Amino acid sequence: MEAGSFAILTYGCQMNKYDSERIAGILDKLQYKKTDDLVKADLILLNTCTVREKADQKVFSKLGRLKKLKKKNPNLLIGVCGCIPQAQGEKVMGRSPLVDLVFGTQNIHQLPEMITELKAGKKKLTRILEATPDGIDPAEDPFLRESEKQGWVSIMTGCDNFCSYCIVPYTRGRERSRQPNDILNEIGSLAKKGYMEVTLLGQNVNSYGRDLSDPLGFPKLLEEVNSIQGLERIRFVTSHPKDLSDELIEKMQKLDKVCESLHLPLQSGSDKILEKMNRLYTNHQYMEIVGKLKKAIPGITLSTDIIVGFPGESDDDFSKTEQAMLHVGFDSSFIFKYSPRTGTAAASFKDLVDEKLVSERFGRLESIQKETTFKNNKLLEGKSVEVLVEGESKTNPEKLMGRTRSNKIIIFEGPEKLKGSLVEVEITRAGLYSLDGHMVGSPN
Ligand code: 5AD
Ligand code: SF4
Repeated sequence: MEAGSFAILTYGCQMNKYDSERIAGILDKLQYKKTDDLVKADLILLNTCTVREKADQKVFSKLGRLKKLKKKNPNLLIGVCGCIPQAQGEKVMGRSPLVDLVFGTQNIHQLPEMITELKAGKKKLTRILEATPDGIDPAEDPFLRESEKQGWVSIMTGCDNFCSYCIVPYTRGRERSRQPNDILNEIGSLAKKGYMEVTLLGQNVNSYGRDLSDPLGFPKLLEEVNSIQGLERIRFVTSHPKDLSDELIEKMQKLDKVCESLHLPLQSGSDKILEKMNRLYTNHQYMEIVGKLKKAIPGITLSTDIIVGFPGESDDDFSKTEQAMLHVGFDSSFIFKYSPRTGTAAASFKDLVDEKLVSERFGRLESIQKETTFKNNKLLEGKSVEVLVEGESKTNPEKLMGRTRSNKIIIFEGPEKLKGSLVEVEITRAGLYSLDGHMVGSPN
């Protein structure tokens, strides 16, 4: 088998996108050429998500649709990697006859060996390690990144929280923090290449470093990242409310590169449900953090995750979630219908909420969010904001699209050469998903 072209289809969260960029870099080094055209690919990898049933189903229905490509090109190799294999193990290979290669989230570093084995004629190769061996760091692998200006950087993997609904501790393993120097070197070399923004990734960034022999702590790590020359913006996901410290809020306020936006999953506004979810905070504690954040960082935008229809969610519990949403005024929220995941504690909870009721509640939260987003966006009309230009607008290709520090999408007119630079834009009209504006002054 000659090295040919490869395509990666990525499902799920930013961590998967980061892993896909790493996988792409490894394959590129092995002389494979990246393509977005599945018909041309000799190797198609599906980097999968299993956080909800729907994400899992999506992967297997996509695999079904790849059948005709395999008929046309018998040399085509199809691989399934990421969270589905990590959670389901060996049996993934048996879920579709089309699959040649299966590997988990913990053995991406073994990809060159796996490719060699496949080239030598090995059929139906499955490799799943429970944990990445000590001493293996992603920075040792080359990355083929999607953007030349904004980069994802994993600071830790795994999660020790075991929220009762969540499969992640089983797909990503226990919490493991990367060494601060490895992270800082990775970001330093990105900045040297001209990257202006980094997003630090971890399932629970607030507990960064706890497992290291010489713990640095997330707020201190932010401080170090902030001092990297050339970098303009720092973001991070995801924060767990139970671990969000005053020290972090103070650093967010003081450090000039840390953006005024935070993703803080609420999940539910009801203490009863939060307890059943094993979230380890109350609605009151969540609201206290929100109060401190808003006070310390004026104009901060907040986004969240919410699960509707968690087992036992009564009308009263649900109405507490509605009230919480209205109280915080999130700029955006990801609302999910509860999906039982095998192996999690909640999978055995009996008091499931009727599907029709879940859909109705889902709709109600969606409308609250739409109204709030629009109301918040309206407040920006007439204001000038700093925008990092990402490229042409997808919805209106004659115009440019960029993001504010607060993570709002801005559409405006300007030459394409501004891609990757910071410009000042005055907002003229607020929409729901984006805001229109015009450039003021000259680009920085
Ligand atoms: N059902 C529904 N939503 C879930 N999430 C995680 N597990 C489940 C599940 N079993 C949501 C949570 C989490 C986000 C990434 O996905 O809201 O914060
Ligand atoms: Fe899942 Fe909870 Fe860990 Fe987030 S904190 S990844 S919801 S177990």
